[in-house]
Amino acid sequence: MYVHFRPTEAPHNERTDLYNIKRMMPFLWSYRGRVLFALVSLMLAKFATVGVPIVLKEIVDQLDLVLNDPASIAAALPLSLLLGYGALRLMNVMFSELRDAVFARVRYRAMRDISTKVVRHLYDLSLNFHLERRTGGISRDLERGTRSLSSILNYLTFNIIPTLTEFALVAIVLFSQYDAHFALITFATVAIYIIYTMAVTEWRMHFRHAMNAYDSQANSQAVDGLINYETVKYFNNEAYELDRYNHTLSQWEDSAVKSTSTMALLNFGQGAIIALGVTVIMIYAAQGVLDGDMSLGDLVLVNAMMLQLFIPLGFLGIIYRSMKHALADMDLMFKLLDTRPEIQDQDQAKSLVITDAVVEFDHVNFAYNPDRQILHDVSLRIPSGQKLAVVGPSGAGKSTLARLLFRFYDVTGGSITIDGQDIRQLSQRSLRESIGIVPQDTVLFNDSIYHNIQYAHPDATEVDVRRAAQLANIHDFIEQLPQGYDTVVGERGLKLSGGEKQRVAIARVILKNPRILVFDEATSSLDSHSEQVILQSLRDVAQQHTTLVIAHRLSTIVDADQILVMDQGRIVEQGNHQQLIESQGVYARLWELQKEQQEQVQH
Ligand SMILES: Nc1ncnc2c1ncn2[C@@H]1O[C@H](COP(=O)(O)OP(=O)(O)OP(=O)(O)O)[C@@H](O)[C@H]1O
Ligand SMILES: [Mg+2]
Repeated sequence: MYVHFRPTEAPHNERTDLYNIKRMMPFLWSYRGRVLFALVSLMLAKFATVGVPIVLKEIVDQLDLVLNDPASIAAALPLSLLLGYGALRLMNVMFSELRDAVFARVRYRAMRDISTKVVRHLYDLSLNFHLERRTGGISRDLERGTRSLSSILNYLTFNIIPTLTEFALVAIVLFSQYDAHFALITFATVAIYIIYTMAVTEWRMHFRHAMNAYDSQANSQAVDGLINYETVKYFNNEAYELDRYNHTLSQWEDSAVKSTSTMALLNFGQGAIIALGVTVIMIYAAQGVLDGDMSLGDLVLVNAMMLQLFIPLGFLGIIYRSMKHALADMDLMFKLLDTRPEIQDQDQAKSLVITDAVVEFDHVNFAYNPDRQILHDVSLRIPSGQKLAVVGPSGAGKSTLARLLFRFYDVTGGSITIDGQDIRQLSQRSLRESIGIVPQDTVLFNDSIYHNIQYAHPDATEVDVRRAAQLANIHDFIEQLPQGYDTVVGERGLKLSGGEKQRVAIARVILKNPRILVFDEATSSLDSHSEQVILQSLRDVAQQHTTLVIAHRLSTIVDADQILVMDQGRIVEQGNHQQLIESQGVYARLWELQKEQQEQVQH
């Protein structure tokens, strides 16, 4: 079973967070040397951080000692300690920066790897998946996913792991050197601080969300009003529009104010907790000094350590929120990666071996969705090098035949074979190499015409490209363009006319030169004259090819070896042109109709 991927904010919880963090690990693992180096740098930086108050304590104690013993004043500037103090500060910066520098490669490589992996996966997913999804949505998920991967790595290495390390080191110093009170008070303060920050942040997020929602609402109201400028004026509704806009903005204002004032509350609360903790510690320490259990230096140390501990915690609120968002975003990306392609190569998929290029549909049934069957028991056979035409009303299932042959979908009943090989047992690559399709709606890359034709064979020479364009009867047109073959065709090829696009598509199939050709209304946008010219060259090209032609205009397929008439997913008539005319059925009536129309146009 494959799982439909939904872009909406899927419910997600700590379990999936953990799962996603675990899925990130392989990306780190491939750079374990650097990661290890970064972690060691981080440790050293933190050793230095924790070392600073300790050296500070020694300096204070020495000075204290000296001051109390005037005899030694001249001798005793604690120079080595002071230099050590400076060195530790230097080490701290140095190892922190080293860690950043070394880790940068890991971080950006992980982003690159995951982006490539997701895009490769998107190509593997079936047409069905892509038809159901908006590309814009996917690229947003991809972008947010990689960005969140990067920020999580960032938080982990630059914030969470360093802070935890520092905690551990401080705990060791406090527990080993001092009364348990100090460690307990310090960590109780930290715990209260963290709980408070998370709780208030969680509560505040709601104002922030409201603020964003009102913001986009106001925006879309303004834009919508301006887009409908004329309608607004027709009905004299400027005041009404402004009112609505202003009303939303006032709600935005309220939530923005709340968001800012609760931020102040958060900051104040954090400061208050620290102040309280430090005061209690200082009372204990001062008492210790008076009791003679502690030196002045100890007092300085405890105070400095505690204050230092709260510096990284100041960002906790922001990090907590961003981590939650990042994990949610990443969840969407990993869900995308977990989507299984509907069409997959079998384990022992063979390569297609073409000898005669005989195409056969054997009692094929097919449904895009289980509740609506599109093809009913379709059987057809195109012998080697022959041309089979399919005609029939819109929606009969003609293009579906082409999609099935190309294996964009698997048949739900029966089978499709090429030279006796069931296409489900073949590798998709080898199958698609042997089939050329000119689709019903050609879209082109927003690049030069040359690139679009050459796309069939990236290493084709210019001579080949031009020859293909000539056969498709588009060379002359291209040559008279100011930029010639370098003309850029616009988004999806929209700067070319329908007929020009079709001819570019024909040219690139000619360049691909596969054994099996499918033309799905390939000349439908052309005038009769250009159509005849192309048909002639296609006849030449198609000579040694097995060809499936789908057409509306019967005049284009009179020469087919075999003609199938389809209606509502069934083959209703079958034969060559002469036979079908003689049998006086659907085809014959269509033929009469089109002939009349043709004559009317000519008169
Ligand atoms: N991806 C899809 N999901 C669901 N239904 C689809 C899908 N693609 C096509 N159909 C339906 O399948 C039927 C056959 O479509 P098909 O494109 O094969 O018709 P056609 O014979 O080529 O028509 P036309 O002459 O208009 O191109 C149509 O009724 C269409 O609505
Ligand atoms: Mg069609």
